[in-house]
Amino acid sequence: MSTEVHVHRDAEAAALAAAGRFVEIGQRAIDERGRFCVALSGGTTPARMYEILGGARGRTLPWGRVHIFFCDERCVPPDHTHSNYAMVHRSLLTAVGVREDHVHRINGELEPPERAAQNYDSVLRAFFGADDARSPFGSTFDLVLLGVGEDGHVASLFPGSRAVAEKQRWAVRACAPSGFDVPDRVTLTLPVINASRRVMFLVTRERKSRVVRPLLTGLGETTWPVTLVQCEGSTEWHVDEDAAGRTPHSATA
Ligand code: 6PG
Repeated sequence: MSTEVHVHRDAEAAALAAAGRFVEIGQRAIDERGRFCVALSGGTTPARMYEILGGARGRTLPWGRVHIFFCDERCVPPDHTHSNYAMVHRSLLTAVGVREDHVHRINGELEPPERAAQNYDSVLRAFFGADDARSPFGSTFDLVLLGVGEDGHVASLFPGSRAVAEKQRWAVRACAPSGFDVPDRVTLTLPVINASRRVMFLVTRERKSRVVRPLLTGLGETTWPVTLVQCEGSTEWHVDEDAAGRTPHSATA
């Protein structure tokens, strides 16, 4: 379990570096295991990284061997303005050759939201061959890409919510507090995120510094779900100067 922190000059440099690492991590997974299984986050921050991956920087990755999953989704149809799938489709999937049957979206349009969560839970168990009797979270993603909210949430795991405490399921229904765009969500659970081979955080902009600065010095508040992300593999942070409150550098712990 190791943690690398990379502070970049600005948001563009962070997105470029994260995209470069995505390609390296993906290529290594394909070389070693024949496929690259990645869970993507939504929100606004990663859109630029996805665009970069859809351009020349991503060209070397054999996209036919890539399986795209989602860290969370809003309970809306796939063409909705707030759909994470729609954002990923627009910024990345239209530009690269991911097979349609390799895109494992969360069916946010299923009602009620619990049905959408159950459905994604089954998709994940079937794909990763989970055997509850042995090791429920034996092998999950090669990479989980996460953003961080100003309240310390990751995916749709919000502070104090039931979803944060989930220990058995792979995906659960979540509820965003008032003030967030769409309250009904489906999210990956912490045990699944933590059983992945690698977690990558991409966080930029000054408004995130309230959360990012303490996190980078190990002083994150324990009520922030992000502090419960303790990946069994390794973790890397790509942040910009504004979020980190520090000048560009790299460090490994
Ligand atoms: C989502 C997310 C969520 C996001 C953070 C940061 O779909 O909204 O998966 O956890 O990563 O809220 O969002 P921004 O990048 O918009 O700041």
